[in-house]
Amino acid sequence: MECCQAEDTKVFLSVIVPTFREAENLTELTERVFASMRNAELDGEMVIVDDNSLDSTDIVCSKLAKEYPLRLIVRQNERGLATAVLAGIDQSRGNIVIVMDADLSHPPEKIPAMVQEVIAGAQFVVGSRYVKGGCTDAKWGIFRWLNSKVATLLARGLTNLKDPMAGFFAFPRHILVNTPPMSPVGYKIGLEIVTKARCQKVSEVPITFMERTRGKSKLTLQQQVLYLRHLRRLYRFKYPQTAELLQFAGVGLSGVMVDLAFFIGLTYSHVEHQLARAISFGVAASWNWYLNRWFTFVDGRRKRATKQWLQFLVSATFGFTINWGTYKVLTDNVAYMADHHLLAFYVGIIMGAGFNYMMSRLFVFRPFEQALPGKVDSPEHPLNVQ
Ligand code: GDD
Ligand code: MN
Repeated sequence: MECCQAEDTKVFLSVIVPTFREAENLTELTERVFASMRNAELDGEMVIVDDNSLDSTDIVCSKLAKEYPLRLIVRQNERGLATAVLAGIDQSRGNIVIVMDADLSHPPEKIPAMVQEVIAGAQFVVGSRYVKGGCTDAKWGIFRWLNSKVATLLARGLTNLKDPMAGFFAFPRHILVNTPPMSPVGYKIGLEIVTKARCQKVSEVPITFMERTRGKSKLTLQQQVLYLRHLRRLYRFKYPQTAELLQFAGVGLSGVMVDLAFFIGLTYSHVEHQLARAISFGVAASWNWYLNRWFTFVDGRRKRATKQWLQFLVSATFGFTINWGTYKVLTDNVAYMADHHLLAFYVGIIMGAGFNYMMSRLFVFRPFEQALPGKVDSPEHPLNVQ
């Protein structure tokens, strides 16, 4: 459905705030959020999603709820920023959603400008540190700055946003209609939404990112590792074929290393060279099978392991024969190739690997019919949107 912000549609804003031990920030945050909304004559609600902080968040919220349209959702058995945000979105009702941190890193005074961008037709708007007029707090050390830059660079292929890591973002709820299930790991829920909802019209409002003055950051090294996993998953979502092909090629290259290592090791141990060649090939092909099963073709692991391993070995043997046969045919029959053996060698590799890939894709690792695209290995978080 092409939609949607007709002039007569009334904006109702849902401000989603994930919290973990932020009680001391909530009063100032709430006051500033609603003051900013009042100035811009924006109607809306605030939904705080707390992961059972046990730090008087509930007391502070019930006090604030007397004065403001604010709701607290407490999750007892779950931890995680991304899933908290999804829960908040799920249980809110605004036609425009905005997500922000509780620690006042994100200036609430920028909310109206971001909402304005959504009304003007943007599908996803971030409060951005990296566009003209935006900046990070001077207190940011070089390490945090560099870390953020590298993380941003890695997301380049997913979106045009200059600040795709932002935890301060707004979007019209309708972008979530018909989007595949969200399966974020870690912190970058904005990046998940912008990618899964395939938002083309994105926009950035400059902000100054303030370092928190109260409480502690929850960003850990583990989150950064999770980010790499998350990125891999999002690239697979956005470019399924290319990502698969690249992974298959990567696995193949690692297999060549294994092949070489075993061949050298075995001949060094005085194993007869033809036998050594056959063994190292078998080991390398098994290695490739294992990595492809767990890494390249995620659905492949549903098939019985031994049967699939044998199929892969047979296919790899054929592939090797094609590789070698190509080399032989070319060097025997094409004069140019007879003078350029190395070129024939490469053509052989490409033919053999291409054959292997086709066999793997269509046969050895063929996904079951009921496999769902986008469903990988974490709990799903379908978003209920009316
Ligand atoms: N419910 C819940 N559960 N909330 C959480 C959790 C959690 O497990 N972990 C963190 N939060 C809340 C915090 O209470 C805060 O309101 C917000 O999420 C951001 O957490 P911080 O710990 O302050 O994150 P940060 O300052 O390191 O990272 C921020 O900036 C990054 C860009 O530099 C976040 O906005 C990131 O999303 C952003 O990428
Ligand atoms: Mn913070």
